[in-house]
Formats: sequence, C-alpha cells, structure tokens
Amino acid sequence: MLGVKTEFGPLGKLIPSIIDATLVAQNMALAAESLGLGTVFIGSVWDSMKKVAEILKVPRNVLPILILCLGYSDETPPRRPRWPRKAVLHENQYSMPTKKLMKEYYRKANRELVKMKYFNRGINSWVEHWQNKFDPEYVKEWEGNMKKDLQEMGFLPS
Ligand SMILES: Cc1cc2nc3c(=O)[nH]c(=O)nc-3n(C[C@H](O)[C@H](O)[C@H](O)COP(=O)(O)O)c2cc1C
Repeated sequence: MLGVKTEFGPLGKLIPSIIDATLVAQNMALAAESLGLGTVFIGSVWDSMKKVAEILKVPRNVLPILILCLGYSDETPPRRPRWPRKAVLHENQYSMPTKKLMKEYYRKANRELVKMKYFNRGINSWVEHWQNKFDPEYVKEWEGNMKKDLQEMGFLPS
C-alpha cells in the first residue's frame, strides 16, 4: 500500500510472523488471566491453516498460526508437573540436563499425571501418551498437509 519496494521471501515472512503472533497470544493470555479469565492455545489450527484463513477471510500474507480461546473457566485443573528450574534455565550457554535429572522428572511427572487423570484410560506415561497421539504415519500426513498449506499461502518455497 505504501509502495515500499522490498518484498520479503517466504522465510522472511514466516519466522517473524510466528514470533509476532506467539508474543501477542502470550501477552493476551497473561492479560486475560490477570483479569480472571481462562485461556487455551489451539495449535490444531495447523491442521488446516488455509481453510481457517478462508473461513476468517484473512487477507493475503496473513497466516492463522494460533487460536486463543478466552472465557470464564468452569473448572480449575491441577497444575501439571513442571521441569525443575535447573533443567530449563541456562546462563550464557546451554547446559544439557543430565539423564539422571530427566529420568527423575519423568518418573515423578508420570506418577502425578496418572493421579490427576491427565492421560487417557490405560495410559501410564508420557511415552505412551505421545506415541498414541502421534502415530508415525499420521505425523507424516500431518506434516505433508501443513507444508502444502504453507506453500500455497506463500509462506514456504514451493
Ligand atoms: C502451541 C500450543 C498449542 C496448543 N494446542 C492445543 C490444542 O490444539 N488443543 C487443546 O486442547 N490444547 C492445546 N494447547 C494447550 C495445552 O494442551 C495445555 O493445556 C496448555 O499448554 C497448558 O498446559 P500446562 O497446564 O501444562 O501449563 C496448546 C498449547 C500450546 C502451547
């Protein structure tokens, strides 16, 4: 509209777009929660970004990358187990958490998540949960669809 001659390529558009949208969504979630609302990020929009863009009638160069549900919660689920700070906070350079620390976290987290009925019935660990949710064939198809949408929308080179 302004007549700027620069035309960003697919990657120049994709990376800043994802960061911009995610920062906005996180700030909206924090603001909403501070006002007593609940939020849920919906990444399943990645399954059909092109279709969502059509339904929402977003203009060219806009990518629906994240949906944020806002509302008054009718439940207060328990806080899920968190990684120890040592495993996620790094100073000056990345320091890989030890296998011992990771194993300890998973053992404790699995126990807590089973207790809070986070997993589906019959599932007792993150390993089973993820393997069940992300079957290799399904993931291949999912990635393929996502790539096709991004290419058709001009956010990935064809
Ligand atoms: C990038 C991203 C995508 C998500 N997508 C979905 C989704 O499609 N459906 C859903 O029910 N929850 C989704 N969630 C919400 C998570 O399942 C989870 O409830 C949320 O991250 C809070 O987790 P916590 O209690 O461990 O902090 C998503 C969260 C993130 C960060």
